[in-house]
Amino acid sequence: MFEINPAAFNSREDVFARLESRVQSYANAFPETFGKSIGTEMFGTDGTRYLDFLAGAGSLNYGHNNPVFKKALLSYIKKDGITHSLDLHTAAKAEFLEAFGDIILAPRQLDYLLQFTGPTGTNAVEAALKIARKVKGRSNVISFTNGFHGVSLGALSLTGNKFLRKAAGVTLQGVTQMPYDGYLGEEVDTIAVIDQMLSDPSSGIDHPAAMIVEVVQGEGGLNAARDDWLRGLRRLCTAHDILLIVDDIQAGCGRTGHFFSFEGAGITPDIVTLSKSLSGSGLPFSVVLLKPELDIWEPGEHNGTFRGNNHAFVTATAALKTYWKTPDFAREVCAKGAHLGQRLQDIVDQFAPELVRVKGRGMMRGIACADPEVATAISVAAFKRGLIIERAGPLGEVVKCLMPLTTSNAQLDEGLDILCRSVEDALRRKQRPVPVSRAPKSVPSG
Ligand SMILES: Cc1ncc(COP(=O)(O)O)c(C=O)c1O
Repeated sequence: MFEINPAAFNSREDVFARLESRVQSYANAFPETFGKSIGTEMFGTDGTRYLDFLAGAGSLNYGHNNPVFKKALLSYIKKDGITHSLDLHTAAKAEFLEAFGDIILAPRQLDYLLQFTGPTGTNAVEAALKIARKVKGRSNVISFTNGFHGVSLGALSLTGNKFLRKAAGVTLQGVTQMPYDGYLGEEVDTIAVIDQMLSDPSSGIDHPAAMIVEVVQGEGGLNAARDDWLRGLRRLCTAHDILLIVDDIQAGCGRTGHFFSFEGAGITPDIVTLSKSLSGSGLPFSVVLLKPELDIWEPGEHNGTFRGNNHAFVTATAALKTYWKTPDFAREVCAKGAHLGQRLQDIVDQFAPELVRVKGRGMMRGIACADPEVATAISVAAFKRGLIIERAGPLGEVVKCLMPLTTSNAQLDEGLDILCRSVEDALRRKQRPVPVSRAPKSVPSG
């Protein structure tokens, strides 16, 4: 049995500084050695309790160590179920495919094949890009301002963030960035702008194979595309013979109150990427959903050792069967999301103009601060008070709530009370000339 021994941990505190790369980022913002987690709670090795409003950057929509998934996985391991199988057929994979087909695709009348890719989100994005380019025989792809799609080279070329792009060390190619909904101001219809760029043979835009979009930009600052805009994008793609890829890696798996973030707009993308909370348990697992006619891969043409994680199949199947067989869970997420939105609005009203507005949708909402340093200070103060909460946006100016969807109403309110007091702390400190920023700048990351 794994037992936490606080004394041993404390004496090893510096092991991270000695042996782990400087590239770590969340660990800098939340300096603690964690040993245990249940639901929305995480515990330091000394027993300090934290509420987790980061949830593995959206990978733990059903909470830490969800008891249903834990039981299913333990039973599977006890029976010597397959752990690793490349892309061989396994019973666990069959059960997952059946559950995904019956519980998610069929009721939504969605006709997709599933491609299991490497385990992280960026692997799914790479596969989606590659198949879109192969199908259309064109290299250019359109992505959107403030988009985040991962940090491997193809996905990074789609990502807006300058800091991350610079780290590529090579020229990022084959992508044209276009203005997201609202980027040029609420009154500018960016669909019309893009349409004009695509229609003008002298605009300098190479005809793209695909557009890739997040319905809510998780790392980019919780910008939520309006339903009308998404419908306009779908029409535009069809009119110009361009594939529409929705990157649902962060906003999918129930985060916005539907299983897929695009359901509210009533659109059907050609390709969808899913990862993060798909396994339910935090195990790495990604898929690309593609319309059957797009599946023109040659066998083995896009491969990888870790495609389809059998333990993740087990917990993902448990997640689908537990939460998505009826509309109850989605309704609950919508209700909690509305409550979250109202409480955040109350906080903004109380502390305006330092706090500017509430952003996001469903249970991915946050507060935009006028000064990014204030957002940093809020996150630092919250952590001291036992709340793990990150920032997003180009300057890290948005304090972002991404708690598990299973968070109880009491814990939701407890966390929001802490957040409110942390805003007070941050603004009080701002009035005194004390350096607030010991935490690093927000680094968009998976
Ligand atoms: C929308 C979106 N796409 C892709 C990724 C990349 O996923 P990963 O970090 O697992 O590679 C992320 C990660 O935050 C994301 O939010």
